Amino acid sequence: MRMAQTLLTPVIDTLGARGLVAPARFAARAAEEVVAVDNAHRAPSGVMEVPSRLLMGPGPANAHPRVLAAQALPLLGHMHPPFFKIMDDISEGLRYAFQTNSKYTCMISGTGHAGMEAAIANLVEPGDKVVIGNSGIWGERVAILAQRYHADVVEIKVTPGETFSYEALKQALEEHKPAVLFLVQGESSTGTHQSLAGLGELCKKTGTLLLVDAVCTMAGVPIFADLWGIDCIYSGSQKCLSGPPGASPFFMSERAMEKLKNRKTPPATYNLDLNLIGDYWGWFGKRSYHHTGPVSTFYAMREALALVAEEGLEALWTRHQEMQKRLWAGLSSLGLKPFVEKEEDRLITVNTIKVPEGVDWAALTKHAMDTYSLEIAGGLGPTVGKVWRVGVMGFNAKPQNVDLVVAAFKDGLQRQGKL
Ligand SMILES: Cc1ncc(COP(=O)(O)O)c(C=O)c1O
Repeated sequence: MRMAQTLLTPVIDTLGARGLVAPARFAARAAEEVVAVDNAHRAPSGVMEVPSRLLMGPGPANAHPRVLAAQALPLLGHMHPPFFKIMDDISEGLRYAFQTNSKYTCMISGTGHAGMEAAIANLVEPGDKVVIGNSGIWGERVAILAQRYHADVVEIKVTPGETFSYEALKQALEEHKPAVLFLVQGESSTGTHQSLAGLGELCKKTGTLLLVDAVCTMAGVPIFADLWGIDCIYSGSQKCLSGPPGASPFFMSERAMEKLKNRKTPPATYNLDLNLIGDYWGWFGKRSYHHTGPVSTFYAMREALALVAEEGLEALWTRHQEMQKRLWAGLSSLGLKPFVEKEEDRLITVNTIKVPEGVDWAALTKHAMDTYSLEIAGGLGPTVGKVWRVGVMGFNAKPQNVDLVVAAFKDGLQRQGKL
């Protein structure tokens, strides 16, 4: 915003006396004009405060205090050897969490979407046929993304609340022989869990890379990258990993790396070029600068992955499963029903609960927030107005939180005379 008044000496004198103008020492460079600073937007100020909330929606979940504390540690340079050690710890922690021996693990700097875009931009070449399983908004979004990277997209769909059968996927693979098959393991908009059983083997037969979104499943439900023949996984830090949003755990197989190395054209993104990011993560030996790694975010992820390793994957998966059972025991006692009909299709980490006839879903979520500082989310995409979504993820997956969610539903339904 420019002030109409130019910097004339008398103006400096009068405004300067009122503290409204840059002192004369801020000399204008040649041909630049320096005027009195417009203070209309001079904000924010003071120490920030935020309300404390229990985040039991589809994410972010509350971060573990150890993860938050790690973020407050002093900064290191992004090319300093002690920081490289932290990056190596993260890579190793991801090998454990993804159950892989691949050297190609890293955090993509950015949220789950950055991992999503990195996967598509690097592993899909213009004109490649890509089969995308659309079981909710995330498949839909990846289809849009892949089109932007000039893929030949074949979208296959199921009714929201259902998953793809092995037979349907086999047929799609045999018919299209795509370069990539994309599936969402945990579709958080519908609350479904896509089985990946046997797909890696099928994909190898048709020369297809298997790409999986594990944003809301990683560390909450089993995934075995090597055993299941998955070629690329991206995830998010803010769900079962109990971290803040901002980092996307990422994995690629040797097969995926071969595809990347043999591309006819470089990926159309510089920011998310995995050749360059891989250089920064030391995949190919000597490290080189690509971007300034978000130092504090990587600290957080190192700590989140340490928590995963300390608890152990089996214990983590069991804890999530037990808390989901506890949630449904409570919700069922209130007469509430799951949106996903088949039990084996129900996602453990993000649960979709049918809104009963005549209930104002938004009033219930508002009451939970106003009364208990508790986030219960509504639906998303195909489930808007039809469901509530409750996350049972990471640090939040514990009995007292689940019990509070059930109590808030009880209270909310009673207030609407529905119980
Ligand atoms: C299944 C799934 N995929 C992708 C995303 C996108 O992740 P982000 O919001 O971190 O970019 C989300 C976010 O909720 C998700 O649930």
